[in-house]
Amino acid sequence: MSHTQAHAGTPAERGQSTSIDLAAKMALIHEQWQPRVVAEMNDYQFKVVKVQGEFPWHRHAGTDEAFFVLEGELRIDMRGGPAGDETIVLRAGQLAVVPKGVEHRPSASAEVQLMLIEPRGVLNTGDGARSARSAENDLWI
Ligand code: NI
Repeated sequence: MSHTQAHAGTPAERGQSTSIDLAAKMALIHEQWQPRVVAEMNDYQFKVVKVQGEFPWHRHAGTDEAFFVLEGELRIDMRGGPAGDETIVLRAGQLAVVPKGVEHRPSASAEVQLMLIEPRGVLNTGDGARSARSAENDLWI
C-alpha cells in the first residue's frame, strides 16, 4: 500500500486488522530522515524511519513524541526540560518518550532504524518555520 492520506480512512487504509512486518517496511525505505506511516491508532500514527547524522534541535509544544529503536543506536540530546539537560542513548529494542515542549536533537553515528509514535500531523522539525529537513507528512509505505 502506498498512498497519501490526510484523514482517517477505512481500517484497511489505516493499516489495521493486519500483520505489519516492520523489517519488510524498512527494506522499502531508501532515504534517511523521511518518516513513512505504517499504521494508525485513533489519531496517532506509527512511522518508520532510517536516520544517520545529526538532526536540528527542535521542540513540539503540543505533543509528546515516542522513539522506539529497531536497529542501531540512537542518541537523543534534550535541553530545557523539567529535569534539565539530558542525553539518552537507545539501542535496538529500547523506547523513550520526549515530553512535549522539551527541545531535542536526535543523532546517530551509523544508520539507525526506528519507529516514531506521535499524533497525525506532527512536523518532524517541530514548531516554527519549515526547514530543509522538514519531511512531508502522511506518506504511507
Ligand atoms: Ni521531534
